[in-house]
Amino acid sequence: MSHLTPPQASELGENNVQVWIFSSATLIECGETLLDHLDEREREEALSYISTRERERFSLYRAAFRRVLGWYVPCDPRDVRLIRNRNGKPSHPHVVADGEVKVREQIHFNLSHSHDWAVVAVSRGGELGVDIERVRLPNGVQTLMDHFFLASEAEAVLQAPEALRAEAFCRLWTRKEAAVKSFGGSLAEWIRDLDVGGQEVNISLRHPELPPLELQEFPVAPGYIGCLCTSFRPAAVTLHQFDCGYHSGLAG
Ligand SMILES: CC(C)(COP(=O)(O)OP(=O)(O)OC[C@H]1O[C@@H](n2cnc3c(N)ncnc32)[C@H](O)[C@@H]1OP(=O)(O)O)[C@@H](O)C(=O)NCCC(=O)NCCS
Repeated sequence: MSHLTPPQASELGENNVQVWIFSSATLIECGETLLDHLDEREREEALSYISTRERERFSLYRAAFRRVLGWYVPCDPRDVRLIRNRNGKPSHPHVVADGEVKVREQIHFNLSHSHDWAVVAVSRGGELGVDIERVRLPNGVQTLMDHFFLASEAEAVLQAPEALRAEAFCRLWTRKEAAVKSFGGSLAEWIRDLDVGGQEVNISLRHPELPPLELQEFPVAPGYIGCLCTSFRPAAVTLHQFDCGYHSGLAG
């Protein structure tokens, strides 16, 4: 995994993955121009958030995702249309013109947000899922582990030194979420079924009902952890910080 600055959508090779990392603080600096990317439905959805902070984050992350997807399609961010499967996974970014659907670029992507950070991972290589979490032990962690972790996974978390326990928990959680998101499943249905234990940063996940999945951890920001899951072995995974300069099209 390496960092490249500035990234170019055109450099996305067949089996590469580009992971865009957004901080809400940076997106706020991008200002109103970024919010112009939102469509009517997203503006309405934003209003359903009672907390101003949540509303602001939703709008900024959505607008930034549109900007990034617009580079790859490529098209105006406002024109990006998506389809969602029955569990909510968005895919197939496309443009509708003159009542006709035009898919301009076959790309796979997935996104995740947690508090002050969000990411979107993009590839042409195949299905992928991504998850980020703020590192902390959630309330009722034991109950969560009883319900959703294998005994061996829960044991590994409990055996971790106290200072590293939250990270151990979140590492397994992000692995499970990223894996489920790679195939657009339902977390509730799959979470207990996936054995994602192991100390390594990269692990392979094998399950009789799923294609082989490759999981790798990546750094998001201090206090956050991220996991990328791909249904193929990526040739390279590059991390890119979204910058206000890019949103005006400099990187596209
Ligand atoms: C997707 C899921 C794993 C969630 O994650 P989360 O930790 O709340 O959210 P994240 O920030 O990591 O990811 C959310 C993004 O993933 C994408 N996403 C949603 N459902 C997805 C799915 N099934 N697979 C892959 N990606 C999905 C969306 O882009 C979503 O962002 P958006 O709503 O702003 O477009 C979880 O909601 C899930 O299992 N959903 C499946 C359907 C389901 O069980 N719904 C519960 C109804 S009570």
